[in-house]
Amino acid sequence: MILVTGAAGKTGQAIIRGLHATGARVRALIRRPEQEGIVLAAGAHEALAGDMTLESTFDRALSGIRTIYHICPNMCAYEVEMGKLAIQWAKRHTVEHFVFHSVLHPQVRAMPHHWDKLLVEDMLFEAGLPYTILQPVAYMQNIMGSWNGIINEGKYHVPYPIDTRLGMVDLLDVAQAAAVVMTTPGHHGATYELCGNEILTPKQMASIMSDILEQEVAAVEERIVNWQQNARHTGMDEEVIKKLTAMFQYYATYGFWGNSNALRHLIGRDPATFADCVLRTKRVSA
Ligand SMILES: NC(=O)c1ccc[n+]([C@@H]2O[C@H](COP(=O)([O-])OP(=O)(O)OC[C@H]3O[C@@H](n4cnc5c(N)ncnc54)[C@H](OP(=O)(O)O)[C@@H]3O)[C@@H](O)[C@H]2O)c1
Repeated sequence: MILVTGAAGKTGQAIIRGLHATGARVRALIRRPEQEGIVLAAGAHEALAGDMTLESTFDRALSGIRTIYHICPNMCAYEVEMGKLAIQWAKRHTVEHFVFHSVLHPQVRAMPHHWDKLLVEDMLFEAGLPYTILQPVAYMQNIMGSWNGIINEGKYHVPYPIDTRLGMVDLLDVAQAAAVVMTTPGHHGATYELCGNEILTPKQMASIMSDILEQEVAAVEERIVNWQQNARHTGMDEEVIKKLTAMFQYYATYGFWGNSNALRHLIGRDPATFADCVLRTKRVSA
């Protein structure tokens, strides 16, 4: 049985689907009992509700588990604490494989949510558990957050320059790679960067979307103060706004991209292109 934490989120559901396709049995750790339907629909065999800041949650969730796929909630203030508990209790339950869903370039200190993941990776090395670390770049599926503006206004707003160079990965490819790592031998001690083939600017992404959606889509740089104001109106936590601002400023200065070799090796084919993902999104939302 494989435990997937953070299971009802965007990543968790994709990972469960990827595992389900291989026939693996999954226990899903969710936060709220009402999320059970989401993870069962994705293919989990059972669900367990609990708060990942509590020791008792991991004690219950890890009983009878051979492999854990640990996903921390996005931009979480307790990433290091949750990682520490997951590792400690995995050791106590003599889990055979700890797979950590990290991020590309966790060593970038300027992005605090990356740095937190580096600290978890560090604890994992020291724990002496058989581990694998997956480091995905930003998901292509993040465009879903801007989908209404793209379709209704023909505008793709980004809070950094529209010529910023970005790598992206299809979350479905990440899920397939994760399933390979958990269901086939030979991945203990490995750290895999998971990136798609392309490095695109928002301007190029808008052009690809224009072609596929058969409507004009323009990339528009939104001033960071405007983005922050809008985020506050939606009730976003100030700490999360700070972390996302740091990330956008890093992107604006350096871009953010990596290499697709490891992903291609794991999934045995070329990773999906941005166009593939937009086409799929178009079909699903039609
Ligand atoms: N988005 C990207 O491009 C990208 C790229 C690389 C890596 N990542 C990493 O992927 C990870 C997952 O991101 P995501 O967007 O899929 O996460 P998410 O949507 O935030 O999902 C996390 C899940 O964890 C649950 N949760 C929150 N607090 C919890 C707690 N205290 N105890 C137990 N469960 C709790 C949430 O439940 P509620 O619904 O109740 O809040 C949610 O179902 C993050 O660590 C992120 O850094 C993301």
